[in-house]
Amino acid sequence: MIRLAVFGHPVAHSRSPALHRAFAGQASVDLDYRAIECRAGALAEALADFAAAGGRGCNLTVPLKEEGARLADRRSAAVSISGAANTLVRDGDAWTADNTDGAGLVADLDRLGIDVSGRRVLVVGAGGAAAGVLPAVAARGPAALHVVNRTAQRAEELAARIQADDVALRGSGFEGIGDSGFEVILQATSLGHDGKVPPLDPAWLAGGAVAYDLNYGDAHGPFADWCAERGVACHDGIGMLVEQAALAFERFTGFRPETGPVHEAMRRG
Ligand code: ATR
Repeated sequence: MIRLAVFGHPVAHSRSPALHRAFAGQASVDLDYRAIECRAGALAEALADFAAAGGRGCNLTVPLKEEGARLADRRSAAVSISGAANTLVRDGDAWTADNTDGAGLVADLDRLGIDVSGRRVLVVGAGGAAAGVLPAVAARGPAALHVVNRTAQRAEELAARIQADDVALRGSGFEGIGDSGFEVILQATSLGHDGKVPPLDPAWLAGGAVAYDLNYGDAHGPFADWCAERGVACHDGIGMLVEQAALAFERFTGFRPETGPVHEAMRRG
């Protein structure tokens, strides 16, 4: 029996338990995967209890990704750069932190046939979600990578933290964007949860630009509408959710799940 969990607040509606149970079925693994409520500041205690109960690994969701990165004993490069962890693996008596969000996003972009290498990419938002995916996107070698955010300083600092050879990387506020022709838009703000969209100017986009919203479900609705009204092709973040979970499952168990059937099942609800 493998004991895994997802910690967060709120966590009741997390899709992670269903995803990991589907992967466990493929791997013929006996899995106990729970969603555990944990508020900001309470993760150290929750992890100690979980480890004492035999927990082998866990996923972290809002608002615990930065706290998890700080608490871990070891960090992957993706965590060191982004400061955000979505996966903790118990290794002896230590926690190793990883972030599979970026690799999950890139895997989903591949699945959808959206190539960011050599393209002009606009990342909207500079919070934990944007930080988590930016290193993996930068590693694909876009021709330009621009982080735009309400708080310009946060975008500038995030852009400065990402090491990317041969990538023109910039951060700015919406008013200071001073750039256009973006071919791929990655929407990583939390505005959709309030029924809002970021103040994007369609003039910044190249003809035929494609958008990917890291949100899904109701939080994706406002941006989906914004894109539809402007003829911009747009995808939600359900596929990224599946792919990041599959990569986390592989970290936990060594088994790499096949994601195709799970994507189909998620679309069916
Ligand atoms: P997450 O982990 O989901 O990224 P976060 O770290 O709180 O959450 O970041 C939320 C993102 O949505 C940030 O980019 C935030 O912009 P600021 O850095 O300026 O706060 C953005 N966001 C949230 N509410 C917003 C609003 N009303 N207008 C514009 N951007 C907003």
